[in-house]
Amino acid sequence: MNKKILDSLSNITNDIPPIWLMRQAGRYLPEYRNVRSSLSDFLELCYTPKRAKEVTLQPIERFNFDAAIIFSDILVIPDAMNVDLQYVKGEGPKLEKTISENQISSLNTDNITNHLKPVYEALKITKQGLGNETALIGFVGAPWTIATYMIEGGGSKNFENIKRYMYDNKTLFDLLIEKLVDAISIHAINQIDAGAEVIQIFDSWSGVLSENSFHEYVIKPTKKIVDNIRKVYPEIKIIGFPKGAGISYLSYINEVDVNGVSIDYTVPVTWAAENIQPKICVQGNLDPYILASDKNLMLNEVDKIIETLSGGAFIFNLGHGILPHTPIENVEALVKRVRKL
Ligand code: CP3
Repeated sequence: MNKKILDSLSNITNDIPPIWLMRQAGRYLPEYRNVRSSLSDFLELCYTPKRAKEVTLQPIERFNFDAAIIFSDILVIPDAMNVDLQYVKGEGPKLEKTISENQISSLNTDNITNHLKPVYEALKITKQGLGNETALIGFVGAPWTIATYMIEGGGSKNFENIKRYMYDNKTLFDLLIEKLVDAISIHAINQIDAGAEVIQIFDSWSGVLSENSFHEYVIKPTKKIVDNIRKVYPEIKIIGFPKGAGISYLSYINEVDVNGVSIDYTVPVTWAAENIQPKICVQGNLDPYILASDKNLMLNEVDKIIETLSGGAFIFNLGHGILPHTPIENVEALVKRVRKL
């Protein structure tokens, strides 16, 4: 078995860095759009193990990435806690707003394992379809980011509702975060039971918080989740992605026991090489808009990232998820460049 990503996450420097892309299974691939259009509902794709396996493997077959990330979504957690969730075409996820005392106190983890069985089955059968050089990544959303969707009722631009809510209703908000910590911990452990070799924790909206709130609602709950996972699986590889954290990336890696951290496209790579890489593996951080743009511009940017980060433990990735309008030939050129082919 030779899985380069596991080496990088054990702090080993690879001559050629391993590569995978966040949201690598998705709408920029015609074969994904094909499967997706045969189903009316996005969640049906997540909850049909054979289909989920098929789309998980599509980017591996096409680009031979060093890792497969299971096809699912961070919002399966509220779904499994009985919060009404729908994916509206062109608008993204819409959720029942979870804001009343009654709604929050009745959230529980009783159904997590049963409701999410298809995800675990998908992991099991996907693993059987992977070669011995490709790692299998499971993932969860972090409590703060999942809470934004639950309180805003969907995506948000300015996070006005959740920021008012967390200051004006601290007791209830803390209870919501605590329940999410429990649910997310169970889901992460179940994914490892099913064969996930790495867990990535997506905190996509951590960048909108002030220093104290970042500590309270990003670092503290994430640390609890990681500690819960490590009680059962002390050696499992975990990657944190507190997107937009800025210099708070440092407090995050100092306080949360992760093996690697995914840096977003705003983080200067020289800063990451000096401040993060001496401690843990760095993953990142090409701007997805550059990947979708001019190929030569993109390759120059790729060279800069590799030059700066290849002296230590490093996984090549984007600084956020791949965009639907990304040309496939750019992804091919990217993979060739990283692998020096
Ligand atoms: O990386 C992968 O290939 C695995 C699949 C994956 C999806 N969502 C599939 C998906 C992963 C890792 C996610 C994580 C996720 N989901 C995040 C964190 C990462 C990030 O991008 O910040 C967030 C915030 C979500 C919530 C979510 N799911 C949104 C906001 C949307 C709608 C926006 C959009 O891109 O359409 C989704 C739907 C979704 N999840 C799609 C995919 C492929 C598109 C739905 C479709 O195919 O119709």
